[in-house]
Amino acid sequence: MLNLPLDTEKMRFSAFGDKFSGRSGILQLMDDLGKAMSSPKAPLMLGGGNPAFIPEVQSRIRARMQAMLANGDEFERLIGNYETPQGNPAFIEALCTLLRTHYGWGIAPPNVAITAGSQASFFLLFNMFAGRFRDGQKKKILLPMAPEYIGYTDLGLTEELFTARRPEIEYLAPHRFKYHVDFEHIDLSPEVGAICFSRPTNPTGNVLTDQEVTRLMALAQARQIPLIIDNAYGSPFPNIVFTAATPLWDEHTIVCLSLSKLGLPGARTGIVIAPEPVAQAIAGMTAIFNLAPSSLGALLTLELVKSGEIIRLSQEVVKPYYRGKAEQALGWLDIALEGLDYFVHHPEGAMFLWLWLRGLPIKSEQLYERLRRRGVVVVSGHYFFPGLEQDWRPRRECIRISYAQAPETVQQGIAVIGEEARKAYREG
Ligand SMILES: Cc1ncc(COP(=O)(O)O)c(C=O)c1O
Repeated sequence: MLNLPLDTEKMRFSAFGDKFSGRSGILQLMDDLGKAMSSPKAPLMLGGGNPAFIPEVQSRIRARMQAMLANGDEFERLIGNYETPQGNPAFIEALCTLLRTHYGWGIAPPNVAITAGSQASFFLLFNMFAGRFRDGQKKKILLPMAPEYIGYTDLGLTEELFTARRPEIEYLAPHRFKYHVDFEHIDLSPEVGAICFSRPTNPTGNVLTDQEVTRLMALAQARQIPLIIDNAYGSPFPNIVFTAATPLWDEHTIVCLSLSKLGLPGARTGIVIAPEPVAQAIAGMTAIFNLAPSSLGALLTLELVKSGEIIRLSQEVVKPYYRGKAEQALGWLDIALEGLDYFVHHPEGAMFLWLWLRGLPIKSEQLYERLRRRGVVVVSGHYFFPGLEQDWRPRRECIRISYAQAPETVQQGIAVIGEEARKAYREG
């Protein structure tokens, strides 16, 4: 047998391999964030989307794990059995009861599918409703209000999976604003296969109003296309929502939940609530790609869901925790940027401040680079516009700041952001 060393130059990847192997924008960014984290001078990490370690949540999950370990062969069954492709039946049943009782959603177990995290849900859903169709049509996912979640960007099996619209800007107070859906420019042409938005939105912390959501639901219904609501930060869990917002669902709506932002990103548990054929299709795809989802997240939270305690925990612990951090971070940011022409999106939820440095003389990527050199990691705002074709100045003038980390980290990081922003305006 020839024992030739592997010639990596000659080993070629398919288009699929190239696209999904790290040469894409988000993977480079994640790599960059990862490298920054492992550099010798520990950076102030205001960049990632990692949820905070909230002691009260963690102790509940720890207790549940200990109970499983102590209870006969419960642990062995957890690790030793494949789940059904749809996900853990007891968890799904409990979740349906919870959502029916608390929100009146008319759902039953066939409406639910568990996935390996909502990132996986979006990969399946977007490629199900957009891309190339058998009859030759090409469809896209409409993001009605960019900026939108960076993680959608590279999920398409085909190119140009998204089309996005700019928001309307409402100025609320000195240095505060809020984005709204610009319905004048929401044209549901036949090329739109589904509509999707995150609520609360990553990166802005915006929460679409009930009115906006109902209007989008009506538009989707009229066109008989699904409305996909990314509820990763929404109600009932983790409920990182600081404004009044009703959790809405109907037969044209697909709501994607996740256990990640409650504090279990490592359990990789996404939940799709959808019309039955859609949920069943997701389960079928899970069977092909993963055989089955993990049961870990479902079993760790089963009792919390059954008892409804997950709602109390989200409402009384998780929400106030992030709300307090948002207010604190906002206070520091106002001090750091005093006198500059800056605006912050009114933080209505999630775990980020979206900072718009109006008229910034350098691009947000350059500001990101300068901050990184000073040991502060944020995310440049230009990444958050998948599918937006028009140039729009604010696209180059914003950064996303996560406030989930320890207060000292956030405070020091924000002080450096203030110094670098000031320097950039001075030079310009
Ligand atoms: C808006 C939004 N959607 C989805 C996800 C994916 O979350 P997960 O795959 O951990 O459920 C994230 C993670 O940061 C997010 O911010």
